[in-house]
Amino acid sequence: MRASFIIKGDICYSKDLENLITKEDSYLICLDGVSKGVFDHIPEEYRYLKVYDYSGKIVMPGLVDLHVHAPQYHFRGLGMDLELLDWLNTYTFPHEAKYADIEYAKETYSKFVGELEKSATTRAVVFATLHVPSTILLMNMLEESGLVSYVGKVNMDRNSIPELQEQSAAESAESTIKWLDEIKSKFKNTYPIITPRFTPSCTDELMEKLGDITREYKLPVQSHLSENQGEIAWVRELCPDTKCYGESYDRYGIFGREVPTIMAHCVWSDEYERNLLKDRGVYIAHCPDSNMNLASGIAPIRRYLTEGQRVGLGSDVAGGAYLSMFRQMTDAIQVSKLFWRLVDEESKPLRVEEVFYLGTLGGGEFFGKVGSFEDGYEFDAVVIDDAEYRTEDLNLHQRLERTIYLSANKDIAHKFIRGNQIF
Ligand code: GUN
Ligand code: FE
Repeated sequence: MRASFIIKGDICYSKDLENLITKEDSYLICLDGVSKGVFDHIPEEYRYLKVYDYSGKIVMPGLVDLHVHAPQYHFRGLGMDLELLDWLNTYTFPHEAKYADIEYAKETYSKFVGELEKSATTRAVVFATLHVPSTILLMNMLEESGLVSYVGKVNMDRNSIPELQEQSAAESAESTIKWLDEIKSKFKNTYPIITPRFTPSCTDELMEKLGDITREYKLPVQSHLSENQGEIAWVRELCPDTKCYGESYDRYGIFGREVPTIMAHCVWSDEYERNLLKDRGVYIAHCPDSNMNLASGIAPIRRYLTEGQRVGLGSDVAGGAYLSMFRQMTDAIQVSKLFWRLVDEESKPLRVEEVFYLGTLGGGEFFGKVGSFEDGYEFDAVVIDDAEYRTEDLNLHQRLERTIYLSANKDIAHKFIRGNQIF
């Protein structure tokens, strides 16, 4: 049995992309860890429940990070003068190689998980490294934290440094199966996700084996797509018989449809690839902080929303320097303004309610009924004390906007995940 209670406060949530609901002094009902909706008064049938009175504070769904690299937390903010491929070779691969050492993993993963716990994030989809023991350690820590997450042991059998590369497709697939067997039925809130790093890191043979594993174990997939122009040109050389980068995954059945899939970035997806993304129902993880740092470009999110693509937000630490999903929301607005001003005058900038949707419900849908307070949604909530930047004349919508731009972890008063109070 999960927890049942009522929260009183100033409540904000998205109904859908267009509709942000803001209700002051209202009551949010949690029954067995599931939202029953928001009410002006406590309905008769719920009068028996305990009420947490957070009057004057903002209550919103927990935020969802659709794309983050746990091992990279330890070196964020470094090498930001480089573009993707040089940054990977110079900083990322040598750093991730250190996770062969479980003691090192213990020390640094505990900082990552500790920081995530303090943040407004309640759900995350995480890349670990190719090492099985440290990936399991990370999953143990995330489970302990109460967060709900997907975690991927990374697969890479080509084009890396010797210290961070699996010997063959067979070895990579075997180690993935070993990992899956070791964690079977071990966790309540921590799920495995198949994680080919990106096409340049995985041979066709490995992609094929990973396709078989996703179908056999019924697992979702995460990877990177069309992030950087040099990367895309390289994929074209590696896979000359594909019409777009996305097809290098799709031809092995690891691009949406029957296996739920997240592709990070999609900065440069052409019309053919966009049609494939839409057709397969792939989730696009928009990572604006990372796209700026690695000078990857500006993803055309307005266009994706108009096309009806599935979109959420990702921190992509350490491409992104910050774990804060509020920060990703503001960055998403800011880069969309640059896109409008400098690239396409027809492409209207994103609005506050739209980025709030992306950071809650947009990404939340990957987890099921997550990211809203509508009846039937899993109860993930954060309570924010906005006293420091609140002025008398603001309505709740404006207070939410300022919270997105200005709040820090210290302003998060309480956090609930699946009805469990984390703090
Ligand atoms: N593409 C392949 N690996 C990575 C990574 O670690 N970060 C980013 N941003 N892109 C990638
Ligand atoms: Fe990434």
